[in-house]
Amino acid sequence: MSQLASRRIVLGVSGGIAAYKSVELCRQLVDLGAHVVPVMTADAHRFIGPVTLSALASEPVHTSLWDDASAIPHTQLGQTADIIVVAPATARVLSAYATGSSEDLLTATLIATRAPVVVCPAMHTEMWEHPAVQSNIEILRSRGVHIVEPETGRLAGGDIGAGRLASTEKICAEIIRVLGMSHDLLGLDIVVTAGGTREPIDAVRVIANRSSGKQGYAIATIAAQRGAHVTLITTVDRVVPSGVTQVQVETAQQMKDAVDAAALSADVVIMAAAVADFRPVVCADQKLKKADGVPNIVLEPTPDILAGLGQRKPLGQTLVGFAAETDSLVAHATAKLSAKCLDLIVANDVSAEGVGFGHDTNAVVLLSPHMPAMTVALADKHAIAHAVLDSVVKVRHQQQESK
Ligand code: CTP
Repeated sequence: MSQLASRRIVLGVSGGIAAYKSVELCRQLVDLGAHVVPVMTADAHRFIGPVTLSALASEPVHTSLWDDASAIPHTQLGQTADIIVVAPATARVLSAYATGSSEDLLTATLIATRAPVVVCPAMHTEMWEHPAVQSNIEILRSRGVHIVEPETGRLAGGDIGAGRLASTEKICAEIIRVLGMSHDLLGLDIVVTAGGTREPIDAVRVIANRSSGKQGYAIATIAAQRGAHVTLITTVDRVVPSGVTQVQVETAQQMKDAVDAAALSADVVIMAAAVADFRPVVCADQKLKKADGVPNIVLEPTPDILAGLGQRKPLGQTLVGFAAETDSLVAHATAKLSAKCLDLIVANDVSAEGVGFGHDTNAVVLLSPHMPAMTVALADKHAIAHAVLDSVVKVRHQQQESK
């Protein structure tokens, strides 16, 4: 098998007990036809000898920013790699990569590259579950880094728990998947909205909803990875995904203004945001005081951004809506699909376990006049994002056929 023939892989090895497994990973990558360039941190040398890795890889181990024949080894390694894989990735390397600190050749190479990066963390359970490590993982994921999560099993010292390096087979499969990932959205201008709008009542209070923005961010991240030019219009302040232009808004009206402007030249608009349907007619300048009694807050409807876009949709544009439902999922979503003149609707039952607002996972039904209905079972929001974008590609194909 030569699934990785002529692919240049920088294999980063950092200092954890799982470093010994990088030797087997290296051998498997070479067997698959890859040209493997090993980079070890100083701590990795405490676990395995560079001679072992050099003997199995396609060239000798690189370790230092200073002793290499090349004057700028990190940029040279980063620029020539088709992919960079870090296995195992310790908590220190994750932290350095997430904060942009180029403390050694491996972290400098990670920061100096535009190639896709696969990171395979391995550490003790307590370290893996620490909020600092999890937040670094979240930051890296939102920047488009591919994470191969550790498995649960026996760890150094005999403990059993989450943190064991994923199997070499799983890591190879992810490398093959990432390298094969198509740039099928190249050249497309995609507008994505994320988060819940906040409608002010007075100087300090708002009417809000439970949307976390995670699904919208996942769509923006994956769309950019698949080559699209992405504008993300958001109410939440998460890390800006790599290659995405972010516009921060708060209210439904601000979101409408930003979306209307961006949609003029967009090929695809994906409204993943949870837009308030009603807002207070007036917003008090000062904080309403308790002593003044129960306030009489009069509401008025907000503009329906998506319905407005549907009414004046330019030829060739693909309009995607979300339907957050708690009952009669398909019936309600189908009604919205036609009422708002959409090309695709992503329906989710937000009352189901692990689905919708706040969760890292989602389960959806995709409905469109241009393709048969498709159910996507509970999966990470990035996997759902791929499914939504796959459907966008299919729908656009049908739209073009019927022009
Ligand atoms: N939407 C919008 N502007 C609004 C309300 C909703 O653009 N003022 C968009 C949402 O971003 C979503 C779709 O319309 O893509 C459906 O939103 P949803 O809240 O599910 O439905 P509503 O149309 O608001 O109807 P209801 O709340 O009665 O279910």
